Amino acid sequence: MDLGPRAALGTHDEDDVEEVADQSAVVAEPLLCHSLSVGSKRLGTGNVIAMSVRSFTASRVLPTIAHGSLDDYIEAGGGVGLRSARAVDPDVVIAELEASGLRGRGGAGFPTGTKWRTVAAFESSVLSTSMVVNAAEGEPGTFKDRAILEANPYAVIEGALIAATVVGARDITFATKRRFGDTITRLQAAVAEVERAGWAQDIEIRVVEGPDEYLYGEETALIEVLDGRAPLPRIAPPWRRGVVEVVADDDDVTSRSGLSADVEMATPTDDNTTPPVLINNVETLANVPAIVAKGAAWFREVGTEASPGTIVCTITGAVQHPGVVEAPMGTSLRTVLDEVGGGARTGRTIVGVLMGVSNAIVTADELDLPISYESMRSRGSGLGSASFIVIDDADDPVAVAAGASRFLAIESCGQCTRCKLDGLEVAGLLATITRGEGDDHDLQTIEKRLGTIADGARCSLASQHQMVVGSILEQFNDAVAARMASNDPVAPYLVAELVRIDDETTTLDESFLTKQPDWTHDEVDSGQMPAERLGEHRTD
Ligand SMILES: Cc1cc2nc3c(=O)[nH]c(=O)nc-3n(C[C@H](O)[C@H](O)[C@H](O)COP(=O)(O)O)c2cc1C
Ligand code: SF4
Repeated sequence: MDLGPRAALGTHDEDDVEEVADQSAVVAEPLLCHSLSVGSKRLGTGNVIAMSVRSFTASRVLPTIAHGSLDDYIEAGGGVGLRSARAVDPDVVIAELEASGLRGRGGAGFPTGTKWRTVAAFESSVLSTSMVVNAAEGEPGTFKDRAILEANPYAVIEGALIAATVVGARDITFATKRRFGDTITRLQAAVAEVERAGWAQDIEIRVVEGPDEYLYGEETALIEVLDGRAPLPRIAPPWRRGVVEVVADDDDVTSRSGLSADVEMATPTDDNTTPPVLINNVETLANVPAIVAKGAAWFREVGTEASPGTIVCTITGAVQHPGVVEAPMGTSLRTVLDEVGGGARTGRTIVGVLMGVSNAIVTADELDLPISYESMRSRGSGLGSASFIVIDDADDPVAVAAGASRFLAIESCGQCTRCKLDGLEVAGLLATITRGEGDDHDLQTIEKRLGTIADGARCSLASQHQMVVGSILEQFNDAVAARMASNDPVAPYLVAELVRIDDETTTLDESFLTKQPDWTHDEVDSGQMPAERLGEHRTD
């Protein structure tokens, strides 16, 4: 049965729906593009300046002109989804989300409707569920969540309020990073406006400023931070163990009674005392209001069958114009790189695209691949958070591999021995090779360590390391051979989190250059695992 918006959620004002429908007339545009000049000065006046793009008029989650106030957002159709969601049974909203096929934009592409249904089913009989917005954005080469939060925070807040309403959460936490100064200011102001307008009702909204670590974005590590500890991934998934830690007394923390957050995987027969948490990415939630207001069929008007809707991509590296763009799923990678990125740098040839540090590298002969979860997966890679770091023939692939490897090895928390130790060894050997000092034995050792690095891994960082480095060495074997034959050093390639894209200039987090494997910036690394240094009641 087609649960169109009016049929399914038909309690809202018809005029509102028409207004929103008009806003959506842009979906047929081949590319919905946006500037990345979202500097604080411009945002102060509510503007996002469009640039270097041929065909943009509007968009679904990233407006061409930032919504400067809640009134602007309402004028553009905002608020209809929340009113509709509050007027129907939560199951109707979940069914609509399932029908829409919306997949989480945090990296894994997990179906959002399925996640909401699971969290709702694991509701605690004692304590209420929590809602968390993952705004930790730490994937190298990604800026899209901050772009959305700066240009359209109201859609994210509305999406989170809908989510909280549906799963029965009484609190919403925006988990940001303390280094996201401008974005946080903008978000806090938007939250205050929404609260003043009465949208939050009795739902408490807070904005938390978390640590810089990459792992903080991993959802269970994020819950640990919200619970007051270091960003160390848990075993138990969020729908079983949420933000609210059920600890009767101190003994529960040290004796591993199962009542603390440090628990083994809960089983389906477990009691449901501990409340779950629903965690969604910023972009995922920004999509929700319009799906609820306009329906699954509208959402599916763009995109592919398995990856409906649009996706907000960040393009950095060896292109003419780095930027953020919202494109329909199914647009080719080449179109995005050419039309938004302006193509290769003058006199250079693109040789590959690093998909953040989460998936196998995409090579030049694969640039016509459509941007979708299924197409990237079919070629042994993945879409991740649509971070496209472009590599050209001036970049040394081994240096790129060394940069990615260093990032992942340093950011590994060390709860799983192989992830940290093999990771550091691989990074060290690649660095040796880039200095022109490597030999074949080093290369063999790298291959061997990549074979064991993910053994017993608690989260996917270890397999990311395996895939990213393994794929570069495999796909660029000629360049690797040339590098092995040379004694000349090659310049290091910095892979680090994006601090900003302003006026087409990208700023990477250069403080990462001095970050030690123990997560300090001390002159000498202590040799301790971060988990040893920072862990509390966590021993394995
Ligand atoms: C190492 C690591 C880092 C991650 N960083 C982020 C992040 O910065 N932001 C994010 O939304 N998801 C991140 N994720 C994915 C989250 O764990 C989680 O899947 C996501 O927040 C779920 O939201 P979604 O279903 O809306 O995509 C990361 C995962 C891993 C393994
Ligand atoms: S796989 Fe690596 S990053 Fe993930 S929990 Fe284990 S040691 Fe930490």
